[in-house]
Amino acid sequence: MLVAPSILSADFGNLARDVEAICEAGCDLVHVDVMDGHFVPNLTIGPVVVSAVAKATTKPMDIHLMVENNTFFVDLFAPLKPEYISFHIEEEKHPHRLVQHIRSYGIKPALVLNPHTPPESIEFLLQDIDMVLLMSVNPGFGGQKFIPSVLERAKRLKLLIEKSNSSCLIEVDGGVNNQNIQALNDAGVDIVVAGSYVFGNQKGYKHAIDSLKV
Ligand code: DX5
Ligand code: ZN
Repeated sequence: MLVAPSILSADFGNLARDVEAICEAGCDLVHVDVMDGHFVPNLTIGPVVVSAVAKATTKPMDIHLMVENNTFFVDLFAPLKPEYISFHIEEEKHPHRLVQHIRSYGIKPALVLNPHTPPESIEFLLQDIDMVLLMSVNPGFGGQKFIPSVLERAKRLKLLIEKSNSSCLIEVDGGVNNQNIQALNDAGVDIVVAGSYVFGNQKGYKHAIDSLKV
C-alpha cells in the first residue's frame, strides 16, 4: 500500500516543515487538495502556496482538484510538475479531452469519483488514465467519517480495470485510518490518502504512515 498524506490537515503556519517531516517519515506521495469554494463549500490553496510545497517535498505531488473550470486550474498547476493531477468526473463535460491535455504536460492524469458515482461511468476512460481516486467522504473537508460503500466500488473498479487491460491504480481518499486499511487493501486499493489520521497522530507521522503500509 502506498501512502499519500493530505496536507489539508498540516499546520499551514509551518507548511514546509510539515512537508519535510512526512517525506522523512516515509510517505510515497504528497496529496494536495485544491478547493475553489464553488465545486465544494471550502477554499484552500493556489499555485503560490503549492510552489512552496513543491520546493519542500522530496516526494512526488498528487494534486486533487475540487473545482469548477478544471482546465483553468490544470494550466495553473501544471508548471509545478506534480506526478498526478486528478479532477472530478462530475464536474467535467469533456473528460477525455482534459485527460489528453494533462498528459500533454507530461503529468499523469487521474479521475476522481464522488461517493455516489459508479465506477462503470468511467469504463471507457480507464485505458487513458493512470489512476482513479475514489472518494470515501464527500469532498470539501478533512476529518470526516469513512463511507464503507467505497469498498464495493473499489472491487467493481478493480474488475473493470482488469477487463480493460488498463494499468491504472486505485486511490481512496477520506476517513482512512488503521481501522479500515486492511479492508481497503483486500478490496484492491493501491494508494490511500490520509489527512487527519497522519497529522493528528499522537505517536507521530512515521508511526501513522507505517500503520497504513499493510
Ligand atoms: C477531502 C479531501 C481529503 C481530506 C482527507 O475533500 O480530498 O484529501 O483532506 O482528510 P481525512 O484523511 O482527514 O479524511
Ligand atoms: Zn483529496
